[in-house]
Amino acid sequence: MSCGLHIHALSWSPEQRRRHEEAHLLRDITLDAARGEFVGLIGPNGSGKTSLLRCAFRFSKPLAGSVALDQNDVWGAAPRWAAQRIAVLLQELPDDFGLTVEQIARMGRTPHKHLLDGDTAEDAAIVAAALRDVDMWHARERAFATLSGGEKQRTLLARALAQQPSVLMLDEPTNHLDLRHQIDLLTLVKRQKLTTLATIHDLNLAAAFCDRLYVIASGAIVAHGTPEQVLSAAMLRDVFEVEAIVDRHPVSSRPRITLIHPI
Ligand SMILES: Nc1ncnc2c1ncn2[C@@H]1O[C@H](COP(=O)(O)OP(=O)(O)OP(=O)(O)O)[C@@H](O)[C@H]1O
Ligand SMILES: [Mg+2]
Repeated sequence: MSCGLHIHALSWSPEQRRRHEEAHLLRDITLDAARGEFVGLIGPNGSGKTSLLRCAFRFSKPLAGSVALDQNDVWGAAPRWAAQRIAVLLQELPDDFGLTVEQIARMGRTPHKHLLDGDTAEDAAIVAAALRDVDMWHARERAFATLSGGEKQRTLLARALAQQPSVLMLDEPTNHLDLRHQIDLLTLVKRQKLTTLATIHDLNLAAAFCDRLYVIASGAIVAHGTPEQVLSAAMLRDVFEVEAIVDRHPVSSRPRITLIHPI
């Protein structure tokens, strides 16, 4: 097995569903992201994207199958090992922490420290670089609670980058962002050259930024490959229940999706 993220034959269900012995919510999921690869996970609402990320970032324990990061079993490793290597940007913004922007970004260093360790000059430099990267350095003293949705999202990305993870897991990272900041954020993430697994609802953004895509429907992977291979009118009809035209973006020549109407 090579470096990167490897999810193999993973199944998972919430407690309630297990009790009723229904089919698993996530079924036999196999997904790979090679080191440095930007992989997108796309699928309709409720298809299991967030649930799969939770299994991968060591929040929901899979009932079967495995998650490996750089050839180590994520669920067999110590929680601290995983916390140092997996950075997560969640779909829902957390509640007010009562902290400043800089304090939030500094939290990214926590998994690398012991209980009584103070911040070193190196920590401060890493945090400053992350805040500059997301264009929030000027606002470092602002209270997180007073930020706009987009500014919060960028601050949380700074926290993830300050963690210097091996893999970045992003759940709808462009939520709350205007057009310019959607592109800025994904460009910034891509520039890190980190192994990245991101759920993205905007399929044109997914086509523009992802090296490969996995399509999930009702808890199972139904297609995967390059955006060109995956984003077809037939897939959009079957999985997303929309009639769409797929052609090429005139500048990037990546697939371009134009919605016509729901089916
Ligand atoms: N802990 C849980 N208990 C009960 N149901 C759950 C639990 N976690 C997820 N589900 C259900 O599983 C399904 C998949 O949820 P999930 O959040 O993974 O979807 P998603 O693909 O991320 O959707 P969205 O695009 O809306 O974010 C949903 O129907 C959800 O209600
Ligand atoms: Mg979700």
